[in-house]
Amino acid sequence: MSNLVVTTRCPISYDRAGGKVTVRKNAGGVSNSLDKLLSKEGGTWICWGDGTGDREHEVESHNGYTIVRLFLTQGEKKGFYDGYSNGTLWPLFHYFRERIKYAPSYFFSYENANRKFADAVSRLVTERDTIWIHDYQLALLPGLLRAGGIRNAILFTWHIPWVSGEFFALLPESGAVLSSLAASDAVTFHTALYRDNFVGSCNLLLDRSEDYAKKAFAIPLGIDYEHYSNTGRRVKNPFPENRKTIFSIDRLDYTKGLTDRVLAVRTLLERHPELVGKFSYVLVVTPSRTSIKEYINAKRELEMNIGRVNGEFGTVNWVPILYIYKRISEASLLSYYMHADVALITPLMDGLNLVSKEFVAASRHGVLVLSKFAGSSEELKEAITVNPNSHGEVADAILLALTMSREEAFSRLEAMKAKVKKRDLHWWLGRITKRMELQIAEREEFGQV
Ligand code: UDP
Ligand code: G6P
Repeated sequence: MSNLVVTTRCPISYDRAGGKVTVRKNAGGVSNSLDKLLSKEGGTWICWGDGTGDREHEVESHNGYTIVRLFLTQGEKKGFYDGYSNGTLWPLFHYFRERIKYAPSYFFSYENANRKFADAVSRLVTERDTIWIHDYQLALLPGLLRAGGIRNAILFTWHIPWVSGEFFALLPESGAVLSSLAASDAVTFHTALYRDNFVGSCNLLLDRSEDYAKKAFAIPLGIDYEHYSNTGRRVKNPFPENRKTIFSIDRLDYTKGLTDRVLAVRTLLERHPELVGKFSYVLVVTPSRTSIKEYINAKRELEMNIGRVNGEFGTVNWVPILYIYKRISEASLLSYYMHADVALITPLMDGLNLVSKEFVAASRHGVLVLSKFAGSSEELKEAITVNPNSHGEVADAILLALTMSREEAFSRLEAMKAKVKKRDLHWWLGRITKRMELQIAEREEFGQV
């Protein structure tokens, strides 16, 4: 498959401050995985140059592939990115009804921004390319490309959850979004539930004569297992040896359940005062979508609760939660994954959650506590699975994880490692490539090319 990849987020951005330009590697599962793929496979990647120094890097060779950036004005960014993508669609697709913001001007900006991506694709596409579009920010792109006469195969990968048809129908533009996605040759999701919800939405809202199940597939994203497991490497333990370490890393997003997680630690300490001083929770949070009010409020709420729990249970020698709010280097992340005793990954809703798979691959002896609302829980059945809305249930799970025998922890971890290794990034790409070949063959058979 020759790749013309389209995403909003670029793998790297350039920021200019005080005459100096710095390179930022962007956080997030989508850009992280595609960077790893394209560095092996090559191709062209069209994305939004949001960095203040990106204009000087409109076209760039990076890691063996080509990045082509397009640019949005501040006004376009507000309506497209802050507004419709992250103010309307993101909360809708994570079942946060009360957080959905809606203004007709948002959709107008969203459509215009998708049009800019369509113009860039039309300019760059060659006959042999499969156009591979990613995620909710670009839902109108397949429809716009088809309307502009592009006949190439289009693959759409949807990385976040897909909600039930009745809930999706709340969106005023649900018909436009769906009919555009249905103009792709294949739409892939990370779980069977999201795929079924998508097909259900099509059947509810679109013309019933088409069989939408024929173009919707569940193919869960995998990780570069070798990279994370890298068993030959010796990495020093960054944590204190005299107590157990619980670890998590997330973008600062209200969907990740960070405040509930902190309150679960509080419940644990209330119920088990004997645990005071016995563990540290290293809570790493990466800045995300910092221009959006909901995210600013989520940060304030999280930090207030961390302060409260540390204040209530801390001593002069110990605090329960060690909070880090910054991007951390990959080397640090690997050492945290390898040496943490427990990974506490409890999103309220998450399309997949790569962090849980990366932890499984890298960990030497750790126990995974995982939300049942993370897409990865469909595969990682040997984790301790929790409902993140119940602080008591999460507290019990942490206690179980902290006290689990080494044998049981090891046997659960080995079972999960085998799955993550089998369904890795290359497996994902192989499945997707095979699927596209079948879709294209079918198109040719029915003379649709
Ligand atoms: N990540 C990173 N550095 C950080 C924080 C996160 O490289 O400081 C990466 C992490 O390794 C993972 C991705 O960002 O590959 C997060 O993906 P995930 O699916 O867990 O969540 P998302 O952020 O996409 O919602
Ligand atoms: C999630 C989304 C991606 C997005 C990433 C980071 O993984 O599925 O599409 O790129 O979060 O969010 P950002 O708003 O910084 O691109």
